[in-house]
Amino acid sequence: MTEQDFILKTYNSKIENGSVKWASPSNIALVKYWGKKKHQIPENPSISFTLSDCKTITEITYSKKNEDGFSFDVYFEGEKNEAFKPKIKTFFERIEVYMPFLKEYHFKIETTNTFPHSSGIASSASGMSAIALCLMSIEKELKTDDGNSKIDNKSYFNQKASFLARLGSGSACRSIEGEIVVWGENETFTQSSDLYGVKFEGDVHSNFSNYQDAILLVDKGEKQVSSTVGHQLMYGHPFAKERFAQAHDNLAKLKTILASGDLNEFIKIVESEALTLHAMMMTSMPYFILMKPNTLEVINKIWAYREKTESKVCFTLDAGANVHVLYPENEKENVLEFIKNELVSYCQNGQYICDQIGQGANQIQL
Ligand code: DP6
Repeated sequence: MTEQDFILKTYNSKIENGSVKWASPSNIALVKYWGKKKHQIPENPSISFTLSDCKTITEITYSKKNEDGFSFDVYFEGEKNEAFKPKIKTFFERIEVYMPFLKEYHFKIETTNTFPHSSGIASSASGMSAIALCLMSIEKELKTDDGNSKIDNKSYFNQKASFLARLGSGSACRSIEGEIVVWGENETFTQSSDLYGVKFEGDVHSNFSNYQDAILLVDKGEKQVSSTVGHQLMYGHPFAKERFAQAHDNLAKLKTILASGDLNEFIKIVESEALTLHAMMMTSMPYFILMKPNTLEVINKIWAYREKTESKVCFTLDAGANVHVLYPENEKENVLEFIKNELVSYCQNGQYICDQIGQGANQIQL
């Protein structure tokens, strides 16, 4: 697939209006995407677990209009929201060439998250993928009788949805399908692409069935440095080349680990990836730190707990202070007890969210 394959050529512009709705999940990267080229092309491949319950639910109502230009309104949790508009406008500008009908309709975008508002959880992955999927469903509704039947092909639909989502936010391209998604060309997964995420089709050991992710909300405040700026700081970064090579290496190792179920090796890769991500932030120019004192407290508690017990619990981080606590399903009871007893006090207002590996996005019939 190339960019050209995603350009919609013919559509039925006689359709006046309609509504579509999708629920799309967040995802948590095991090998991190950090650094990108032009047009949202990643500098290195990444792999993630799709989450199950942390989702954005978005309904888009479209209606034919005559004026030129993009026209849309955004409602977040029932209230009109101006703050999201610039990001969505940029997104529309980037994808217009692939969806030429965008300027012919007015869009009412109504969106909610299942996770608490301003929890500091990155909602761009679930948010952008939900919009991309809604637009794909609209593209399907505008199908002409004679042409563009490839939209009926589920794998094309998912690929283009992921392709569009990537143009909204890189990590969003990994939120269309479950349970594990790879994004970015690499030598281990020959099917992988820089343009969209692909479902991991390798063997997955039962140790990873229903793998759990408890997200500890250590700091819910606005981040000082956005991911977009962080990615840019990988240009000319003194360790960039080594870091990108390391991601390729870790991806290859992880493929073997997912098949063998070796949780000790899994922990090593996942925690090292999280710390490397933050090490890149600390060694860029300008440098910055997104971890908070409580992030480190939690990490030390997890290490001490592992030392004391036979637990295979581990942590990962995204571009923020919150900690994702990953663990196998058979440890659920014990780890939840550990979180309640030892980690909750490091969470803002004692808040954390229990989630697990999920199957990907779902259309909601209206
Ligand atoms: C640290 O996808 O949020 O979560 O493409 O600029 O929207 P943009 O960045 P974004 O970056 C996420 C980076 C990360 C790691 C990851 O999810 O792989």
